[in-house]
Amino acid sequence: MSLPIIIDTDPGQDDAVAILLALASPEFEVLGITAVAGNVPLALTEVNARKICELAGQSDIKVYSGAIRPMLRPLVTAEHVHGRTGLDGPVLPEPTMPLQQQHAVDFIVETLMERPAGTVALCTLGPLTNIGLALVREPRIASRIKRIVAMGGGFFEGGNTTPAAEFNIYVDPQAARLVFDAGIPITLIPLDCTHQALTTRARVEKFRKMTNKSGPAVAELLDFFERFDEQKYGTDGGPLHDPCVIAWLLKPELFTSRDVNVSIECESELTMGMTVIDWWRVTERKANATVCRGIDADGFFALMAERIAKLR
Ligand code: RIB
Ligand code: CA
Repeated sequence: MSLPIIIDTDPGQDDAVAILLALASPEFEVLGITAVAGNVPLALTEVNARKICELAGQSDIKVYSGAIRPMLRPLVTAEHVHGRTGLDGPVLPEPTMPLQQQHAVDFIVETLMERPAGTVALCTLGPLTNIGLALVREPRIASRIKRIVAMGGGFFEGGNTTPAAEFNIYVDPQAARLVFDAGIPITLIPLDCTHQALTTRARVEKFRKMTNKSGPAVAELLDFFERFDEQKYGTDGGPLHDPCVIAWLLKPELFTSRDVNVSIECESELTMGMTVIDWWRVTERKANATVCRGIDADGFFALMAERIAKLR
């Protein structure tokens, strides 16, 4: 029995690899991909999502366009990391598959209200604006979501956008607070975990040597994506964030985690968007998320290589 999922995303090279991993895995029924403004503006993230589906040879996947900006704050993008297009690296043709006419938020609400409660999981790879708006549009969806698996936040690793905040949460902290306060089962995969999943040369070469189309394209995506973080952190390779979300659903045993409270800073400009993770349970705050801190990085990359090799 496959798991019905919606992937909410701001492609982004790491989002692209996450989407390819999902499309290569028969464990999932991908009900739709919803684009959100984040790494680059929405006009690019929705095109990029469609480019990735066509790269995988799955142009029947339904792609929806969502929020053009965060709920309250102005949009902050990351072209310095992802390039002007958001998908710099490989040359991918303009998509010919259609963009769905329905707004992504309406698709999320409609799907969750129509499908049996507790059966659909949301995989969020970008700012949580679409999910926050869906919760405001129809609060009843909160009790109908099986689980949200989100890439975002950081605590022991600090932030990557400000010293305190990771990009996905920083871009829309109000949406993140809505999501974390809604009583939804959440698995959070923060920088504390993804910073252990580095795209070392040896790991990237495995994709480059694949004889299909997707493998070398993944290598070119990672060649571009990792350069910023390699320079910043002085490491061999950069952290591969978003595919961890899909990998957790496929093989949760690759991760170590703890159920703790995650609260989102929405007042102080200094720490705006910080995920205040009560890892040592020093407060009475209720645990509202399963927070991942450890990952078997070799196992993670082996899983990705095994699946991506199966794509065309
Ligand atoms: O901080 C990393 C996250 O921000 C990833 O999801 C990356 O794609 C960007 O959206
Ligand atoms: Ca992303």
